[in-house]
Amino acid sequence: MIDAAQLAALSDRAEAAAHHAYAPYSHFYVGAAILLDSGEIVTGCNVENASYRLTTCAEQTAIASAVANFGPKIRIQAVVVASRNHTACQPCGACRQTIAEFADPTATIVFPGENATPTTTTLAELLPGAFALSS
Ligand code: THU
Repeated sequence: MIDAAQLAALSDRAEAAAHHAYAPYSHFYVGAAILLDSGEIVTGCNVENASYRLTTCAEQTAIASAVANFGPKIRIQAVVVASRNHTACQPCGACRQTIAEFADPTATIVFPGENATPTTTTLAELLPGAFALSS
């Protein structure tokens, strides 16, 4: 779990990142802030493309940035999602699987739920039975 101060910091960073979103097609502006086990916070925003399916979600952008900046051993403690549209913004299925690559099932996920009310849950709740390769 994360404490109230961590949640406030992550929410601020996610909202700031949403202002960087490149979303000229959907006009749905999303930011994400991830807390790493190291204590670092890394942000991302959605980056759309005229070839729509090439769009990258905010969560995936943040995770790619975290790996690029801190290396392949990063572990995610929490993900906070913000939307400038004041609507629900649950992490999509692909984002849940991407988070699962770098987080334990107990990782905290916070997103704007019904009526944009912040909803706190865990990765296990969002993605039960996640696909993983056994080593
Ligand atoms: N989007 C995200 O960035 N994260 C999510 O978890 C859900 C959706 C973006 C993708 C696209 O640019 C826009 O929201 C509308 O789907």
